[in-house]
Amino acid sequence: MSQEPIQYAADLVRDARYVVILTGAGVSKESGVPTFREAMDGLWSHYDPQQLATPHAFRANPQLVWEWYEWRRSLVSESMPNAGHMALAQLEQLHPGDILTVTQNVDDLHERAGSQRIVHLHGNIARNKCFDSCQGEPTLLDTLDATNDSKPPRCPYCGGMVRPDVVWFGETLPVHAINRAIEASQLCDVMLVIGTSGLVNPAAQLPILAAQNGASIIEVNPDTTPITPLAKVKLTGASGELLPQVIMALEV
Ligand code: OAD
Repeated sequence: MSQEPIQYAADLVRDARYVVILTGAGVSKESGVPTFREAMDGLWSHYDPQQLATPHAFRANPQLVWEWYEWRRSLVSESMPNAGHMALAQLEQLHPGDILTVTQNVDDLHERAGSQRIVHLHGNIARNKCFDSCQGEPTLLDTLDATNDSKPPRCPYCGGMVRPDVVWFGETLPVHAINRAIEASQLCDVMLVIGTSGLVNPAAQLPILAAQNGASIIEVNPDTTPITPLAKVKLTGASGELLPQVIMALEV
């Protein structure tokens, strides 16, 4: 691609007082974590993530959903932050203004790259909680009985099912996380929208809110999305390739 859109994006970011970075599954793809709307590999290729990531699916077949999460967890724990995550962490360091990363991802690759100001809209795949919230919502379970090999494991308080601490389709987002993201979207002057299909609400509303409040939207995605028409700059391609170029252009 020509250098102009990269330079334009870098200029907008440099001049901003408050930058919000909204990320989705695409930013972790180059780390080997599959996105939600592309076919899965191997064992899980016959399943649709949108059919598995629901409370209904978990009730209907808890073992299947638990094993799917065990697989996703193993992919996340074996993966490393890619050049896109590293560039975003570098941006947080370099930029004199405020930066907040709002991610839909349930992995910890932004943290492992060094980003510090992060809001997780859809929870954290490494954590577990009681499906019945027996001690209040959420009943987080730090340690599970290692000798208990039932799938899913049992809640040590009530004996009910343990589930991952992620937001499933049809569930509400953690209130503090979505409120912080909404406030940041209203206040930022640039929003980088990276690796998200823009199809899942309420996260998909955040770029609309930012644009309505005067922010410039910069989209990084190989595909066209519902966010593309809002974007002042569209960087078409992989975030692991394009984001380091934006940082380079920022530094000169
Ligand atoms: P999706 O899987 O819907 O979209 C991934 C996006 O990343 C697509 O638009 C791809 O074109 C783009 N993409 C692919 N490779 C890329 C790369 N190397 N660099 C940049 N972009 C790339 O993922 P999300 O939009 O994150 O929710 O999905 C939103 C939510 O729906 C997820 O958080 C998850 C899912 O169901 C829950 O688990 C609640």
